[in-house]
Amino acid sequence: MTAADGQSASGRKSAADRPPVLELTGVTKSFGPLVAVDSLSLTIRPNEVVGLLGENGAGKSTLLKILTGVHQPDKGSIAVNGKSVNLRSPQEANAVGIGIVHQEQSLFSNLSVAENIVMGLSKQGARSTRFGIYRWGQVNRDAASILERIGSRIDPRTKMSDLSFAHRQMVEIGRTIEIARETTRALNATRR
Ligand SMILES: Nc1ncnc2c1ncn2[C@@H]1O[C@H](COP(=O)(O)OP(=O)(O)O)[C@@H](O)[C@H]1O
Ligand SMILES: [Mg+2]
Repeated sequence: MTAADGQSASGRKSAADRPPVLELTGVTKSFGPLVAVDSLSLTIRPNEVVGLLGENGAGKSTLLKILTGVHQPDKGSIAVNGKSVNLRSPQEANAVGIGIVHQEQSLFSNLSVAENIVMGLSKQGARSTRFGIYRWGQVNRDAASILERIGSRIDPRTKMSDLSFAHRQMVEIGRTIEIARETTRALNATRR
């Protein structure tokens, strides 16, 4: 993959005026002699949807792995909300708000929406008793508000297998965002 500047796909003025949420500068990653990602620069602003196109082996997956802390770049820098970051693990990527929603869905079809959302989250707080037993009323309310934040009104008690692909993907997105939020909060708390 070679240098490209990710301009807004939507072309919306409001996004172009706002400071970038993500900025890659000269990101390079080689595997031995093979340069998988070659000095890639990319700017993504709030509410932008950016498509990344390239033939097989172009370096798309490698770039996503760099952004999710699976691979570390050999050269270049990554800034999130204007702050330079060093993503050494998926947890560190989560902590700065980067998560990945895979095309192949990772949720359990025989469980409810709320059960699937809460699965990746901690058992702390009002969601469970001090013995680690879930309070399902609270779990369902939390799941509903997580979905509401992304504009979805799916009933959290619905079984995943009763949802359309698009609705299941909304659950994946809600869950991924919430995992990132929770990791960020947890890290901020320990740094205090
Ligand atoms: N872990 C790895 N070790 C060695 N080579 C790799 C590794 N991951 C990817 N590559 C190579 O890097 C190049 C880019 O791969 P990839 O990022 O998977 O491309 P894409 O997702 O666009 O198809 C390919 O030539 C691939 O064989
Ligand atoms: Mg790929």
